[in-house]
Amino acid sequence: MKKITIAIDGHSSCGKSTMAKDLARELNYIYIDTGAMYRAVTLYALEKGLISEQGIDEASLQREMEHVMITFVMNPETGRPDTYLNGKYVEDKIRSMEVSKHVSQVAALGFVREAMVDLQRLMGEAKGVIMDGRDIGTVVFPDAELKVFVTASAEIRAQRRYDELKAKGEACDYDEILQNVLERDRLDSTREISPLRKADDAIVLDNSHMTIEEQKEWLLERVKEVLIS
Ligand code: DC
Repeated sequence: MKKITIAIDGHSSCGKSTMAKDLARELNYIYIDTGAMYRAVTLYALEKGLISEQGIDEASLQREMEHVMITFVMNPETGRPDTYLNGKYVEDKIRSMEVSKHVSQVAALGFVREAMVDLQRLMGEAKGVIMDGRDIGTVVFPDAELKVFVTASAEIRAQRRYDELKAKGEACDYDEILQNVLERDRLDSTREISPLRKADDAIVLDNSHMTIEEQKEWLLERVKEVLIS
C-alpha cells in the first residue's frame, strides 16, 4: 500500500498526540511529536540557565543549538516513542508546567524553528509518517496528502491537561493550567514566524465532545479516503 504523509496541527492540549500516536501504531507509520522537540529545546535552555525573569538569553541559546540533539526511541511497553535529549530520557520532564510556561517563547525564535523544521523534514522524508504540531501542514510538509486541524474548547483542553498531570502525581492547579492554555493559544497564533493557522486544505476536527475511540475512527476514515482516492 502507498505510504503518505499525515499532518496533524491544532491548538495545545487538544489530544492531537494521543490520536496521532494511536493511528501511527495502527498504520505502522512513524510518529513525530514536534511539540516534544520544542519542549526539549526549552528544557535544555532551562537546564543551562538561559531562561530567567529577564527573558531568554537568545545569543547563548543560538550558540548552543548545535549541542541540542533530539531523538525519539520506541518504548516497547507503551508502543509509543519517548523523547531523548542528548541521549537522556526526558519524556516526563518536558511535560512539566515549568517547560509549558516557557515553550511558546522558545518556539517563537526563528533560529530554533529553522533547526527544528530541518530535522522534521529529515525525519519525515521517507513518508509513512504522522507528524503533529502547529505548522506541519502549512510549513513543514505543505504537500502532505492528509492535513487535519484539531481543536476543542479551552476549558476542555485545560481539564484534559489537568487530568494528565494529576495522573502523573504532579501538583497542579486547574486555573493556572487554563491560563497557560489560553496564553499559549495567543502566543502560538500571533507569533511572527509560522503562526498557528489552519492550512487552506486541512480538514477541521473539533473533538470537544468526542471520545478517544471516536477520534481514532474518524481519523482512520479520513486516511482510508485518501488512500483509495
Ligand atoms: O503540542 P505541545 O503543546 O506539546 O507544543 C508545545 C509548544 O511548542 C506549543 O506551545 C507550540 C510549540 N509548537 C510549535 O510552535 N510548532 C510545532 N510544530 C509544535 C509545537
